[in-house]
Amino acid sequence: MDVHVVEHPLAAARLTVMRDERSDSVVFRAALHELTTLLVYEATRDIDAERFEIRTPVAATTGVRLANPPLLVPVLRAGLGMADAAHRLLPEATMGFVGLARDEETHEPRAYMESLPEDLTGRRVVVLDPMVATGGSLLRCCEMIAERGCTDISVVCVLAAPEGIRKLEESGLPLTVTTASVDEGLNEAAYIVPGLGDAGDRQFGHY
Ligand code: PRP
Ligand code: URA
Repeated sequence: MDVHVVEHPLAAARLTVMRDERSDSVVFRAALHELTTLLVYEATRDIDAERFEIRTPVAATTGVRLANPPLLVPVLRAGLGMADAAHRLLPEATMGFVGLARDEETHEPRAYMESLPEDLTGRRVVVLDPMVATGGSLLRCCEMIAERGCTDISVVCVLAAPEGIRKLEESGLPLTVTTASVDEGLNEAAYIVPGLGDAGDRQFGHY
């Protein structure tokens, strides 16, 4: 499985804002939006494009357009904060939704929503979730997508723990991961260390 850690000062600066406990939800959401733009840009470098002929006001030339626009899948709740930035870069994309909540005791994901096209054969799917901690939520989401025939899943996250990366790797699913950082590991509550806390709560509040 290919894991691409985006190393760029602009990405690192947004990530720092997100990590900083003094950043309120307005600042946190803005940094997540901007960082998502940088991460999706990197994650789609190899996306299918086709050439076609156009004319500038001066001469004929060859242009480029997406050949097979992907499906974007933000994982609710926290992935919602990445959806708009990704959709702006890929306006031709369609969007599906998966809702997953991690049980606070067992850390197992509970699926509460699944809104995906029936057939994903031949489609690229870009999954958006800021956090890959144990990897359980992402794995569940990617299984739903692979069951629909997808063989090309790009996971875009802000932070990943080595434990989560390992779980995704061991799944054998057709995945690549693009992230701003692979952090040290997980604490006893399965939070990423140093991490940034609870990405859903920091955007939308704790309830
Ligand atoms: C967070 C995060 C991931 C998951 C990561 O969501 O957005 O989906 O936890 O943890 P894992 O890798 O151990 O499964 P959470 O379940 O807190 O729900 P939320 O987005 O609604 O806050
Ligand atoms: N979910 C989060 O939002 N943060 C973590 O550190 C782990 C899971």
